[in-house]
Amino acid sequence: MKIIVADHYEDLCKLSAVIIKECVQAKKDAVLGLATGSTPVGLYKQLISDYQAGEIDFSKVITFNLDEYAGLSPSHPQSYNKFMHEHLFQHINVQPDHIHIPQGDNPQLEAECKVYEELIRQAGGIDVQILGIGSNGHIGFNEPGSDFEERTRIVRLSESTIQANARFFGGDPVLVPRLAVSMGIKTIMEFSKHIVLLANGEEKADAIQKMAEGPVTPEIPASILQQHNHVTVIADPKAAQKLKNLSYLSNK
Ligand code: F6R
Repeated sequence: MKIIVADHYEDLCKLSAVIIKECVQAKKDAVLGLATGSTPVGLYKQLISDYQAGEIDFSKVITFNLDEYAGLSPSHPQSYNKFMHEHLFQHINVQPDHIHIPQGDNPQLEAECKVYEELIRQAGGIDVQILGIGSNGHIGFNEPGSDFEERTRIVRLSESTIQANARFFGGDPVLVPRLAVSMGIKTIMEFSKHIVLLANGEEKADAIQKMAEGPVTPEIPASILQQHNHVTVIADPKAAQKLKNLSYLSNK
């Protein structure tokens, strides 16, 4: 695991955008795994400005998002589908049929999960997978206690995630869906060739320390990343402040 401490959030966004840019420049039909939430918003802004500057072409790129709330239609204002279109897709030249996000309101949600998993397999896996991290150590919606062998499936959000995500629902936790579809830990570990985990702010400091230095345990789902052979963590100084072992910290 390589850990880069960015100077600040803008630096984190630039560094992660460079990884995506280099991947797509080397492979025009790269497969990108994408996350929602606050952390990657600046990365997506950077990618939009790189696209506008003619530095990156998304016309052949394929995307798979990590997760989606169960029960929300793609056009629902709080769906991750809507989020991705507003923050990235509508501003770049990605082909609509190259975009994959689980359909949260599919009445056959279990079948949706199986098909999603199969689509990633058929795409040949994910070249760069962007991850955020929950303050409870979750990745995707794989909450503490998730089985490391699980694939894309229906999951129940933990109370802390419901509280954390209420800010996207006007601050009302009651409005946050209780269920979601998420790529599983096994999906992420097996299909991702390069995992880039982004963490910003002191509320992520405990999770980052446990992820990198604690035991590999389902109680901190992100700790499994210690067993993946190509992980780059990019954290701002506040998210990195509790790391004790500085030997694996990398210069930029
Ligand atoms: C989002 C996702 C989540 C978030 C995590 C951090 O698609 O899978 O695991 O990455 O909850 O969210 P933020 O960035 O809002 O702190």
